[in-house]
Amino acid sequence: MDQDRIISGAPFEEEQSFELSLRPRVLQEYIGQTQVKQNLEISVAAARSRGEALDHVLLYGPPGLGKTTLAGVIANELGVSLKTTTGPIIQIKGDLTAILTNLQPNDVLFIDEIHRLLPHIEEILYPALEDFKLDLIIGQGPSARSVALNLPPFTLVGATTRAGLISSPLRSRFGIVHRLDYYTEEELGVIVKRSAEILGIRIDAAGTKEIAARSRGTPRVANRLLRRVRDYAQVKADGVINREVARQSLSLLAIDDTGFDENDKKLIKTIIEKFSGGPVGVATLAAAISEEVDAIEDIYEPYLIQRGLLQRTPRGRMATKLAYEHFGLTPTPGQLSLL
Ligand SMILES: Nc1ncnc2c1ncn2[C@@H]1O[C@H](COP(=O)(O)OP(=O)(O)OP(=O)(O)O)[C@@H](O)[C@H]1O
Ligand SMILES: [Mg+2]
Repeated sequence: MDQDRIISGAPFEEEQSFELSLRPRVLQEYIGQTQVKQNLEISVAAARSRGEALDHVLLYGPPGLGKTTLAGVIANELGVSLKTTTGPIIQIKGDLTAILTNLQPNDVLFIDEIHRLLPHIEEILYPALEDFKLDLIIGQGPSARSVALNLPPFTLVGATTRAGLISSPLRSRFGIVHRLDYYTEEELGVIVKRSAEILGIRIDAAGTKEIAARSRGTPRVANRLLRRVRDYAQVKADGVINREVARQSLSLLAIDDTGFDENDKKLIKTIIEKFSGGPVGVATLAAAISEEVDAIEDIYEPYLIQRGLLQRTPRGRMATKLAYEHFGLTPTPGQLSLL
């Protein structure tokens, strides 16, 4: 699955600077996720007025929904610096020690993909999170002794697409836990409009709506589609994105009205045609469509489930009645009895 790039979760390299320019910096610019924002607003105001570090925050949800963005927003709202790292990068104890001892009081440390922290690193983190202390071993052999090092108070913001893979001791150390959900079409419309303004793209209301509807509830996808449609508008139209231009360009990218693309279609068709509608285990399914299990679980599946096309059962994945309807496939009598 090579042309999955449009909908895939992770940003690709050329996109990173562009994402940076579109990233909201304060809560007021952060669109949607109303409840999360309301809660954070209160927690941040309270921490600020006490002059304390904010409680540790865990953010989880599918890729591209704004976890990294929100970590930056939290630091800005707190008026502190943001230090960023990712779970798998921290290999040895010294890496973490260096990061932690370099923090200023009340700073935000953002650890992306926190579910991928190595177990021995995670263990060092526990006392740091709880008591702002690090246990260091000084010396070797019989003369070795353990010293507790005091750290400045700080806020850990952890992000993950897989809350289920976080160990319960780590999870229990987060005082604030928020799940980010897919955005509504209206919210995505606001995001598209905002991005178009920042990038100087001319787009009308119908064009905005068209892109929003096909963005899989995901701001990253919305921004990505906006760029692709802008290219099309420049080459094929007079540079202005309207409904027709958006529709033509998106259908050229094989993205349907609901935001599904060829890969979603392939996944659903495979379940239906090769596995009689399911249930089929995710590893088997991954092999059948030459895709990675992680990509299925992180990117394709959550949106298909949210739109009611796929069901996750203890015995595997199943296509729903809606899936047959959406892709215009007729269930066989045997499949019908399962639906
Ligand atoms: N609430 C929002 N309002 C406006 N734009 C947003 C919002 N959330 C995300 N975006 C846009 O979407 C892009 C992707 O968001 P972000 O990188 O924060 O996602 P993420 O959840 O960290 O993804 P990943 O799981 O891949 O790390 C950002 O560059 C930003 O432009
Ligand atoms: Mg991120």
